[in-house]
Amino acid sequence: MSLTLPNDLQAAIRDMAEWIEPGLIEVRRDLHAHPELAFEEVRTAAVVARELTRLGITHTTGIAKTGVVGIIQGGKPGPVLAIRADMDALPIHEQTGLAFASKTAGLMHACGHDIHTTTLLGVAAVLQQLAPSLCGTVKLIFQPAEEAIGGAERMIEEGVLEGPHVDYALGFHNYPQLPAGQFGFCRGPALAAADTFKVVVHGKSGHAAHPYAAVDPIVAAAQLIGQLQTVVSREVKPLHPVVVTVGAIHGGVAANIIPDDVTFIGTVRTLHAEAQDLAEAAIQRLCAGMELGMRVRCECTYTRGVPAMLNDDRVLDPTVRAVRAQLGDVVVETQPSMGAEDFALMSQVVPAFQLGIGSGAPGRDDRLHNSSYQPDEACIALGVQALSRAATHILGGEMLA
Ligand code: NI
Repeated sequence: MSLTLPNDLQAAIRDMAEWIEPGLIEVRRDLHAHPELAFEEVRTAAVVARELTRLGITHTTGIAKTGVVGIIQGGKPGPVLAIRADMDALPIHEQTGLAFASKTAGLMHACGHDIHTTTLLGVAAVLQQLAPSLCGTVKLIFQPAEEAIGGAERMIEEGVLEGPHVDYALGFHNYPQLPAGQFGFCRGPALAAADTFKVVVHGKSGHAAHPYAAVDPIVAAAQLIGQLQTVVSREVKPLHPVVVTVGAIHGGVAANIIPDDVTFIGTVRTLHAEAQDLAEAAIQRLCAGMELGMRVRCECTYTRGVPAMLNDDRVLDPTVRAVRAQLGDVVVETQPSMGAEDFALMSQVVPAFQLGIGSGAPGRDDRLHNSSYQPDEACIALGVQALSRAATHILGGEMLA
């Protein structure tokens, strides 16, 4: 029995995924045509609830405003696995020209969260069929507001990882750098902590022709921005990646006036806590130094955002083994990214792993968050197979045979 079951399971999952694929693509195209921003995913949540009802899956709506959580109770005792998909779209005007392109001007599913929502619905369908032989419980988390960052935090606050207590969490993201059919994993820190800072450089306004009678915040801000880059090159270990980017700067109104102040804002991305602490301290210190050096006053506000996403081997290893068992030699190790994602907050609470699901198609613009992004829809059914099989492995049962 233990020798034949994995093969039977493989065929069962494959056949179910193929059977539901046309319906999933229909759902995905409907979601794609109707994108909704963070915490406004009312229609999307209604589609999710409708599909879960159709599948006979118990679910709760209205968690973190527009989130939905479904529960599949396995026939045998075991741990609780959460599988999380995000649902929100972006303020981007779609340029794909697809028949099912966004019907809302200025909004688009340019990060593939329509794919994620649909994929998790497919996983729900497959695991519901397998429920009698599942060891444990699967919690299906449909999360709002990943892009605006806030959905995961609010879901955790509202108890999504409790009742029943979640033992492991599995996330996923479409990954256009890999073709559909391939999957990626990254061990350890995989996505960056994303902090922000705001610096107000206060000088003293005056005539541009008489700088000695003023305190020029523009020259001080320019020097400070240059110095901030030395945090990366001179302060943190070269094997601890850091990005410091100033994304906006405002100050002054005319060529002949030295303004009172200049404000600039930026982001700091780090993979390691040590580098994050160093970067924060260095930015504060460089601001303080500028006060002495240039007679200005620097108000620096440093705000920690989502932490780094830590992939835990206890979820990563069984997932990678499961995907290989289901689909063959299709899993590759990928590099960490300095992008951020709020599934990281769940990874701080429970052992978690985010699987990259190849979604690239030859000849298409393969960057997320671009107005022409077209993931290969084949990634949906393949993702359903990969995640469903991973769930059976993580929960135990057959899989360790
Ligand atoms: Ni995304």
